[in-house]
Amino acid sequence: MSHRPDRSEHPAYPVGLRLAGRRVVVLGGGTVAQRRLPALLAAGADVLVIAPSVTPAVEAMAEAGELRWERRAYRPGDLAGAWYAVVATDDAEANAAASAEAEESRVWCVRSDDAEAATAWTPATGRVEGVTVAVLTGRDPRRSAAVRDAVVEGVRDGTLSAPRHRARRAGVALVGGGPGDPDLITVRGRRMLAEADVVIADRLGPRDLLDELPPHVEVIDAAKIPYGRAMAQEAINEALVEQAKAGKFVVRLKGGDPFVFGRGMEEAQALAEAGIPVTVVPGISSSVSVPGAAGIPVTHRGVAHEFTVVSGHVAPDDPRSLVDWAALARLRGTLVLLMAVEKAGAIADALVEHGRDPKTPVAVVQEGTMAGQRRVDATLATVAERIRAEAVRPPAVIVVGEVVAVGRYAGGAVGGVDGGAR
Ligand SMILES: C[S@@+](CC[C@H](N)C(=O)[O-])C[C@H]1O[C@@H](n2cnc3c(N)ncnc32)[C@H](O)[C@@H]1O
Repeated sequence: MSHRPDRSEHPAYPVGLRLAGRRVVVLGGGTVAQRRLPALLAAGADVLVIAPSVTPAVEAMAEAGELRWERRAYRPGDLAGAWYAVVATDDAEANAAASAEAEESRVWCVRSDDAEAATAWTPATGRVEGVTVAVLTGRDPRRSAAVRDAVVEGVRDGTLSAPRHRARRAGVALVGGGPGDPDLITVRGRRMLAEADVVIADRLGPRDLLDELPPHVEVIDAAKIPYGRAMAQEAINEALVEQAKAGKFVVRLKGGDPFVFGRGMEEAQALAEAGIPVTVVPGISSSVSVPGAAGIPVTHRGVAHEFTVVSGHVAPDDPRSLVDWAALARLRGTLVLLMAVEKAGAIADALVEHGRDPKTPVAVVQEGTMAGQRRVDATLATVAERIRAEAVRPPAVIVVGEVVAVGRYAGGAVGGVDGGAR
């Protein structure tokens, strides 16, 4: 007497199918099929969709030549030549018939309507750092997805320790740390930090993240590197080269984005000259995020069609200045001034002198996205006095333009990113 195994008692056997160039038949073109298709296409499968109608996204894939679509219902024999089948129509009879054909012809088959009747299950999958994570929990797809998310996220942000045995990182990563809130570093930046042997950090940026580093990671304060007769920047470049040559993976953690007034390219060039590999990880620049955190959009429909980011570290009449303040004064859009607290009065005077209205709204946002965030409102005519009276200190971003008034309404201001200051 033949013994029918109770399949529900047994866990699925996990396997990675190598589908490149192999026929996969997808029956149905609705949202289930749409969700399955990208991974099949990414695996290089030769996908045939059979369905009387499909979603616009699936149709777009067909139009782009990524898959073939036969506009009709399932017919017996459709699985001929297939290695794998996805049965996901809204016709129960067709699903059962296709599933029976799959069983008959030994084609592994997933079913959207009846997992128990299927011969294969789709795991919750994710890819991170060249690793494919696939999770099966039997009949609990939400739990599979939750476990998948936890693993992917953990590997991505470095909280799940997964050392690279084959390819340990080498060289230097210039990482933009964002404006200061530790949540505003990029996922890639955080991952680099988790793999660092040495971190050379600036005063600005997400310094709270440094406390989370394991004890073996050496943290060097860039401001404290002794530079003797050389320039401070040269000493930092030398420290980067020296640490990397000692075989360490070095993260150069910078505030905002490394290439926005961050001297990132100088460091990248020094490293390239020394033959050291450099990875640049962009960051969220304070020039956009700090105004946003204070409820100020740098552009707004009907108000400002451009924004210009300007360094205010030298006064307009300083011969070292490369800024054409007369041209900036003629622009109608938003001016975002960095490093400008000290010279704000001289800059405002230059803008007014060249034609900008002295009543133009101005906001000064100090320590944006950090615990001490505050915003001081003024106009071009009053900004210097307001900075003095309110004892505003760097770091601060100064925003000039009508956008400053946009987030304001009778009775208060619209909260910024994440509701404003933390
Ligand atoms: C040397 S620049 C570096 C800019 C950085 N690379 C970026 O993309 O944000 C330093 C200036 O950025 C601005 N800044 C940076 N972080 C800030 C923050 N959290 N709040 C206010 N201003 C900030 C200030 O104007 C500061 O003087």
